[in-house]
Amino acid sequence: MKITMIGAGYVGLVSGVCFADFGHEVACIDKDAGKIEALLAGRIPIFEPGLEQLVADNVKDGRLSFTTDLATSVSQSDVIFIAVGTPSRRGDGHADLSYVYDAAREIAAHVTGFTVIVTKSTVPVGTGDEVERIMRETNPDADIAVVSNPEFLREGAAIDDFKRPDRIVIGLNDERARSVMTEVYRPLYLNQSPLLFTTRRTSELIKYAGNAFLAMKITFINEMADLCEKVGANVQEVARGIGLDGRIGAKFLHAGPGYGGSCFPKDTLALVKTAQDHDSPVRLIETVVSVNDNRKRAMGRKVIAAAGGDVRGKKVAVLGLTFKPNTDDMRDSPAIAVIQALTDGGAVVTGYDPEGMENAKRVIDGITYADSPYKAAEGADVLVIVTEWNEFRALNLDRLKTLMNTPILVDLRNIYQSGEVTKHGFTYTSVGRPE
Ligand code: UDX
Repeated sequence: MKITMIGAGYVGLVSGVCFADFGHEVACIDKDAGKIEALLAGRIPIFEPGLEQLVADNVKDGRLSFTTDLATSVSQSDVIFIAVGTPSRRGDGHADLSYVYDAAREIAAHVTGFTVIVTKSTVPVGTGDEVERIMRETNPDADIAVVSNPEFLREGAAIDDFKRPDRIVIGLNDERARSVMTEVYRPLYLNQSPLLFTTRRTSELIKYAGNAFLAMKITFINEMADLCEKVGANVQEVARGIGLDGRIGAKFLHAGPGYGGSCFPKDTLALVKTAQDHDSPVRLIETVVSVNDNRKRAMGRKVIAAAGGDVRGKKVAVLGLTFKPNTDDMRDSPAIAVIQALTDGGAVVTGYDPEGMENAKRVIDGITYADSPYKAAEGADVLVIVTEWNEFRALNLDRLKTLMNTPILVDLRNIYQSGEVTKHGFTYTSVGRPE
């Protein structure tokens, strides 16, 4: 199959290289000539484990190419994926679809022969209809089928998720696209990953419903964590106790500082807006959005409480800035709100992150950065773990204690057990567990 991937961002790049690795011939297109130049020189603009090597291998084998020449690539392709960004529109929280529609217009002008157009970007219900309308309006002769095929990749595990998905969802209204999409995913189909065919609108909603459900699950356990703190129960044991019920499931029940990232905050908000527009409000998700927003700053206040109620002039070391480990992504990271609450309270903050510091510098003002956890801890009155990077799981606590001004550890990801920290002379606070 000849595939064009429009948009060499996170989703486009990972999907493009994985399709190439399946044996398809893939061209990744981006309007940003600088990005394409960097990719051609072997530089990957994002941090994702395994991505650089997989790109290099597939470029070398001639299956993967990068170009800004949309017209040529589109005219030669059987399948065209639209994987451009759909950011939250400033002001109203709706997904901004202008990049998707621009791509649709451009593609329409250059397709030849029967071509399947697939929206991989996360798009609200009905977007596929509009993409089809725009394309037919731009080029009434175009022989196209517009398909929805949402991605469920997790950053940091994206390649593995792509190659071993729980399911592949394909929404189509034109039966001719079914065999094309089956061929695109043939290697996974052979691996017994279920291909779920639905209508286009159903597929579009599955993506939002899935992300909203997971965000709700996290928010549920976070509220249980708060309750555990009040009644003296242990949220990790509550999570285990309920998670063993197969109807609930153990995953996404880790209490923490609130969900962040490029998907959950944006997608929950977009679902809320779509539902309101259709006069069918999703009140549970509205609540999830506001509980999660409040939680991030509340975690800043938790740190202040652990420091004795006042951080004015105190030095706070923050370990982990990205929204989760194994990424350099800072989008909607809880660390941003936690640090804001601390600096608003007068704290002097030093941050450290294994991969995210360059991006953090762009979104967090007024703090300094250290190049190791130990440098960050020098003279600190409180040490806070916001993101559970592996390198924070086995910190040398004796060394930290000698470096710090007062040995207080706030563990917002529950990666330590109280006893193993307090035996080194630390005061320890975690989330939803008895001290
Ligand atoms: C998510 C979805 O998992 C993926 O299917 C979708 O396509 C995109 O959004 P991602 O944003 O990469 O992927 O990260 P994920 O691992 O799902 O974590 C999202 C946020 O939830 C992170 O801030 C994480 O720390 C938080 N989280 C996750 C919890 O606080 N507790 C949990 O139990 C799980």
